[in-house]
Amino acid sequence: MSDSLQSGAFIIAGLLFILALAGLSKHETSRRGNILGSVGMGVALVVTVLATQLGVESGGEKVGGLPTWGLAAILAPMLVGAGIGVFRALRVEMTGMPQLIALFHSFVGLAAVLVGWVSYLEGAPEHNVGLHYGELFIGVFIGAVTFTGSIIAYLKLSAKMKSKPLALPHHNLINGAAVLAFIGLTVWFVILPADQHIGQGNTGLMLLSAMTVIALLLGLHLVAAIGGGDMPVVVSMLNSYSGWAAAAAGFTLGNDLLIITGALVGSSGAYLSYIMCKAMNRSFMGVIMGGFGSDGAVVGEAKDYGEHREITAPEVAELLKDSSSVVIAPGYGMAVAQAQSAVADLTAKLRARGVDVRFAIHPVAGRLPGHMNVLLAEAKVPYDIVFEMDEINDDFPDVDVVLVIGANDTVNPAALDDPSSPIAGMPVLHVWEAGQVIVFKRSMATGYAGVQNPLFFNENTAMLFGDAKVRVEDIIRAMA
Ligand code: TAP
Repeated sequence: MSDSLQSGAFIIAGLLFILALAGLSKHETSRRGNILGSVGMGVALVVTVLATQLGVESGGEKVGGLPTWGLAAILAPMLVGAGIGVFRALRVEMTGMPQLIALFHSFVGLAAVLVGWVSYLEGAPEHNVGLHYGELFIGVFIGAVTFTGSIIAYLKLSAKMKSKPLALPHHNLINGAAVLAFIGLTVWFVILPADQHIGQGNTGLMLLSAMTVIALLLGLHLVAAIGGGDMPVVVSMLNSYSGWAAAAAGFTLGNDLLIITGALVGSSGAYLSYIMCKAMNRSFMGVIMGGFGSDGAVVGEAKDYGEHREITAPEVAELLKDSSSVVIAPGYGMAVAQAQSAVADLTAKLRARGVDVRFAIHPVAGRLPGHMNVLLAEAKVPYDIVFEMDEINDDFPDVDVVLVIGANDTVNPAALDDPSSPIAGMPVLHVWEAGQVIVFKRSMATGYAGVQNPLFFNENTAMLFGDAKVRVEDIIRAMA
């Protein structure tokens, strides 16, 4: 395969990835964005496999190439990997997506570590040795942090590990010392004389091993120190780290497309983390250094907020019939109950009666960025009645009824009123300012962050207990 053909294909794939990102930024174009990204990845895979198999011709010289069995050696693990990926992706519930994504990030991190190690064990290139060792060392570091950080995120998100933050004494100092050690080891590794590197001496191998262990431990500590309510920022931060790990692997392998793709994922993930930080009112640097958020304060402590009031589905139906403006604030419970289609049906019924129905979407509602938007789009709720928190938060005083469907932390006034709360400072939907608030959930249990919600005890709040889907269907029946 000619060098220019490969470069041309990589440019096309890179452009398709950029168009994919642009498409994914809006509901209306997100499907197209997904397709463009998939086509780009298809082009990248085919060209990379062919180039590895056939070798690349540049200036009349052929570099690389494998014997015929090489194709089978590449395709066999690819098919096994793709098979496992398709199997897992088909089986995963929407509510299980965040942990699956965290697991995928861990694979990217592990791949970057393995690429860096294999490249080191293969020996130094003829030119730019210092640069090669520098990028290899940094790549292994980012990959190792991403690997263990993502494993902890996976365990926390899948509730296999407590989401309570690990509060080691001086945790910022520990993180700072690890980063300083990494910088020192990198300089040492890069300036190390060639005869102390692999094949001739063991110092280089020891430095790389020491740094890998430090990075693995740092990844564990960074994410273990983060409280449940702050996990969204961590997921997008690990997404960004996995991109930079891939870019670093691209430098080590000399693969331009991997560099471009990794940089796109890394920078868009960093921007998403920044947006998340703004939404959660957290400091960006705090996130990058880990250990922000909850200081380990007791969560879910039993404060006495008084009595809550209950309501039945037929009563809610009556209330809705008499309303002219309704806002629906969905949360993670809507995803668990798979209530989105029933909610869309209720919306259509109310709109047919002339009720103004809108949706209020908190940036971290659910367990994934855009989780609620995806569910509502799947249920064919019109995009023009779905509003982001900032667009709708001032309108609640003019709303007759708010239906809080499986949301909890994202509508918790303690975030604004209680500075000791683990979610203090996080902007929330001001649903309590509406005339009447109906909360759909199964019990008085806390949400993801494990904190009580005083909203449930307000005079203008009534609890509709039960599975959200069943209750919404009950309301639809009662309205008929
Ligand atoms: P949560 O605070 O997680 O609360 C969800 C509520 O849904 C629970 O209180 C639960 O109460 C209820 N529920 C569960 N299953 C239900 C069912 N079948 N029917 C009815 N209700 C059900 O939800 P939220 O307001 O969406 O907040 C999201 C939280 O997740 C935030 O703390 C956020 O920081 C965190 N988080 C978000 C992300 C992203 S990127 N969005 C990622 C990781 C973590 P019952 O058990 O009583 O029913």
